[in-house]
Amino acid sequence: MIQHGVPIEELTPISISLLKVGQSLPYDLYNARGKFISAKDYIFKNEMEISMMSQSKPMRLKTDEDFKTQLRNDTELKEVNKATGSIEQTDTSLEYGGGELLTVAAREHDFSDYKANRDNAVRNGTKVSVVALINQLIATFPKLHKAFYDDSSTVLGILKTMETKLFRIIEQDKDAAIGLIHISEIKSQAEHCVFSAILAGTYSKTIGYPDRFVRLVVTSAFCMNLGAIELHEELNSKDTKLCDDLISKIRKHSEESVALTATAGIKHPTIINAILHHHERPDGEGYPAGLRSEEIPDEALIIGIVDTYLAMIGPRAYRNKVEPKEALKRVLFEGHKYDNDFYTTFIKAIGVYPAGTFHELNSGEIVVVIRRDPKHATKPEICTLINAAGEQVSELETILLSSSNQTIKKPHPGGRGLHIPPEVLWD
Ligand SMILES: [Fe+2]
Repeated sequence: MIQHGVPIEELTPISISLLKVGQSLPYDLYNARGKFISAKDYIFKNEMEISMMSQSKPMRLKTDEDFKTQLRNDTELKEVNKATGSIEQTDTSLEYGGGELLTVAAREHDFSDYKANRDNAVRNGTKVSVVALINQLIATFPKLHKAFYDDSSTVLGILKTMETKLFRIIEQDKDAAIGLIHISEIKSQAEHCVFSAILAGTYSKTIGYPDRFVRLVVTSAFCMNLGAIELHEELNSKDTKLCDDLISKIRKHSEESVALTATAGIKHPTIINAILHHHERPDGEGYPAGLRSEEIPDEALIIGIVDTYLAMIGPRAYRNKVEPKEALKRVLFEGHKYDNDFYTTFIKAIGVYPAGTFHELNSGEIVVVIRRDPKHATKPEICTLINAAGEQVSELETILLSSSNQTIKKPHPGGRGLHIPPEVLWD
């Protein structure tokens, strides 16, 4: 599609040596100000045309690969990461997770953007509860799933609407979204897929990918487990160990999800790669291709880590759910084992103490994490649910842990008396 007036950061210069008489152009060309100058497939008739074209310093649209390379090589970003990577000295004896891995990951991150977005939304009167928006997405998911089988021509429209809503959620209040995920039971596939898309969007934004790439990752996360939805019911009816037959069916779900998305006309290589390879592991033990380390596309690693984390914290009939603390430790352990930064960066996306998790303070109070404090990675904003005397509090109040003399002692399993409606905690 021909585009006019492309932002300069979306373009990259091309080598003039690529322009040859009698050969067709491999891309649309733009000048150095982003103005469209020649369409893909145009054939240069003579050297004069090429010479005139070179004077405008021709550029082409960056591909996803260009963005990824730029990100990896961006020394400025590395500097920012170094600057924001200072560990709070007072928190290095962090008990949560206990080990060095979580301490290393307990680094500060700049969250100033989303606080500003949240406040702007309230000021402009455009704020709709994040909890309500997420519930709308969960309610829409079965419609999306059905459309893949019944009317694939409507899939792209439904996905686009869901993706727009999801971006609004992330920009308005990431922690409310993360809070809802952790406070939910994650029993249905609709919840798993919507929560995957939210976490994958938050995670890839935290890494620093441009919105264009984040959108592809979000779409991939929505669709990665489409091929396993029927299996899910079968899985949840098993309270014994998985049989070989079911395991081999599970190992085919990424390929089946790709086949389904293809029927709806989704052929973007980033989406296909992400879905197809989201169960590959850097040690080559994953599936379907047994890819190793660098062979696994970033987009596949991102949604794969999210899929694994959410599967762990959700209950299954054949095993107990894993507490977020333990699930985070396992993700970080994998990162350590594979020496892979993607795993360790995951904690930056959701926080050392993710919103929606319960903890006991030194005082004995039981609290729920409301959101991260941008200045103190290990001292979040919390809300006390049970006071030090063991009584349920009558009025909920949020405080910054950094402004109190309390610290988090250990995680709490939640349960009786702690079922507060999420819309009360994140309005
Ligand atoms: Fe999966």
